Amino acid sequence: MAKASLVVLISGSGSNLQAIIDAIENKELDAEIKAVISNTATALGLERAARANIETHVVDHKQYSDRESFDRAMMHIIEPLEPDLVVLAGFMRILSDTFIDRYQHRLINIHPSLLPKYKGLNTHQQALDNKDAIHGASVHFVSHELDSGPVVIQAEIPVLDTDTSASLGARVLNEEHVIYPMVIGMHTAGRLTFKGDQLNLDEKPLTEPLIWKNQHLSR
Ligand code: GRF
Repeated sequence: MAKASLVVLISGSGSNLQAIIDAIENKELDAEIKAVISNTATALGLERAARANIETHVVDHKQYSDRESFDRAMMHIIEPLEPDLVVLAGFMRILSDTFIDRYQHRLINIHPSLLPKYKGLNTHQQALDNKDAIHGASVHFVSHELDSGPVVIQAEIPVLDTDTSASLGARVLNEEHVIYPMVIGMHTAGRLTFKGDQLNLDEKPLTEPLIWKNQHLSR
């Protein structure tokens, strides 16, 4: 069987991209990254991709008059690659319905909160402001509404009294680097499927996200 193929979209540091590259290199993940696309030319993630000999593309959203034409330019690159999965890894643009429809059920995102809490930005500060005891990250399939769609795994970590937004964010990011390759692995192994809009894991409806906590996966 051919290896599962991925296209990864980034906007910045690309540490999640790096985690995926590392998981592939360490043979923890049986997949191939066909291309990395960034909407900013200065994204550090582009250097990470180039170092791993992955094809890179910059599609600068500022060069396009609207969301749809920007997305179509990305689709122009993605289509011939026929990826099994389009992976949003710190990609900071809202996608059009055209794009989301085209990659429906094979488009995933990682978000630094325990969804449905704190969609959008500044998630770590919001967790601190609300005095949450637990914070974390979610990997989810993308649907039309921002930071929505079925969640596969959430990583949970305790919020410490001493935490700042930066320290909390750094610990969440460490967990992201574990759960994102994990979900991609489940997908490439054929364990994540859809029946209509119902996400199934191992052919059973996944009604609640899996929880990754203390280095352990549970339901
Ligand atoms: C991560 O916190 C991710 O959850 C969010 O953007 C950040 C990207 O970090 N969507 P990186 O570019 O992968 O280092």
